[in-house]
Amino acid sequence: MKLSVIGCGYLGAVHAAAMASIGHDVVGIDVDQRKVDALAQGIAPFFEPGLPELLKDGVASGRLRFTTDMCAAADATVHFIGVGTPQQKDGYAADLTYVDAAVDALLPFLKPGDVVAGKSTVPVGTAARLAERVTPTGATLVWNPEFLREGWAVKDTIEPDRLVAGVPTDGTGRADADGERAADVLREVYHTAVATNTPFIVTDLATAELVKVAANAFLATKISFINAMAEIAEVTGADVTQLADAIGHDVRIGRRFLGAGIGFGGGCLPKDIRAFSARAEELGRGESVSFLREVDAINLRRRDRAVDLVVDALGGSVFEKRITVLGAAFKPHSDDIRDSPALDVAVRLRGLGASVVVTDPEAIPNAKAKHPQLTYVEDRDEALTDADAVVLVTEWDEYRRQLSPEHASSLTKGRIVVDGRNGLDAAAWRAAGWSYYGMGRP
Ligand code: UDX
Repeated sequence: MKLSVIGCGYLGAVHAAAMASIGHDVVGIDVDQRKVDALAQGIAPFFEPGLPELLKDGVASGRLRFTTDMCAAADATVHFIGVGTPQQKDGYAADLTYVDAAVDALLPFLKPGDVVAGKSTVPVGTAARLAERVTPTGATLVWNPEFLREGWAVKDTIEPDRLVAGVPTDGTGRADADGERAADVLREVYHTAVATNTPFIVTDLATAELVKVAANAFLATKISFINAMAEIAEVTGADVTQLADAIGHDVRIGRRFLGAGIGFGGGCLPKDIRAFSARAEELGRGESVSFLREVDAINLRRRDRAVDLVVDALGGSVFEKRITVLGAAFKPHSDDIRDSPALDVAVRLRGLGASVVVTDPEAIPNAKAKHPQLTYVEDRDEALTDADAVVLVTEWDEYRRQLSPEHASSLTKGRIVVDGRNGLDAAAWRAAGWSYYGMGRP
């Protein structure tokens, strides 16, 4: 099939490359010339495992092209919208400027029978509004949310755990004729996943939009729930990691996303729960998701907690202390520093007068551009040298599994480790003579 993918960021670039890898003829379109130039040469503009290989293969096969020229969409019959929906500068709501601009630019190239599939995370009601513009061209607008996780984006795109297609309905919630046809077109696009019986759920437009924000709201709530338990553990001497293990054995609860620590960040969960709150307010149902404000507040408090732990561990002041911060990315397997709790902790420690040295296997260039006031050292061991305290904030294997306390002792001056992700073996670090401080642990 001939596909266009509009917006070539984390979502669109991976989607374009993945669709080419399963046999489609794909053109990725973006307004950013530099990004397009890199992608056209098979170079990933961000760190995502597996993406460089997919890009190279796709470009070499001739099935994957990138351009800034929207005319290229004219040949395609299915058009994916994968542009960003960041938080508005002056509020909680999502900024839909890029989605609207993408649809406007695409309109002149749409033909009767084309399918426009929105993938961006949008406030419920956006698709119905966009459909009013798309339908007069004879094309059908559907919403096909994307659930990929950074770091696993290629696998999540090619082998998703479910596919959701929000399509036009007849007013009783059933797909109308255009909706049925568009759903079939998406089944053909995702033929490999459909062939392996991946659940394919056809809904109306509003449900599909809500599925995505509800999923992210649930994940954020799960993390903040366990972090709230960490706060209680901290005043009772309990251990939140054991608590999570114990409740996680209940299959109704499950252990995943019960990792207590410095909380969630990134380009999705924080802005998506805020946009959801803002949209619910607009709909007169703010109270239905008012708990998301609490989820956000708990999450942000954990960053304060990590900073307080470091200050206390160093005797009440970090002034002129050398602190090595292990990690800058918002999570491992990513170079993304958007709303990164790890960098936030580093910046705050520096603000308190510490001499902060940050290391990260992938995120240093992005971190340096955003926070040039911090010192960055690529080599982990060099970063650890002479540290008064070590703070783990992104649980890369390089720090969690491959750094032994004995080796760390041979490099640092102090023996204080603050484990912002509860990723280290506390007993092993203590046995090696370190003062270990976890999050929500004795
Ligand atoms: C998220 C959703 O998981 C994905 O489905 C959606 O498409 C986009 O948003 P992503 O932003 O890549 O994906 O990150 P995710 O793996 O969900 O992690 C989000 C944050 O939560 C990270 O900062 C991570 O460190 C943190 N986290 C995760 C915890 O603090 N504890 C956990 O137990 C799990």
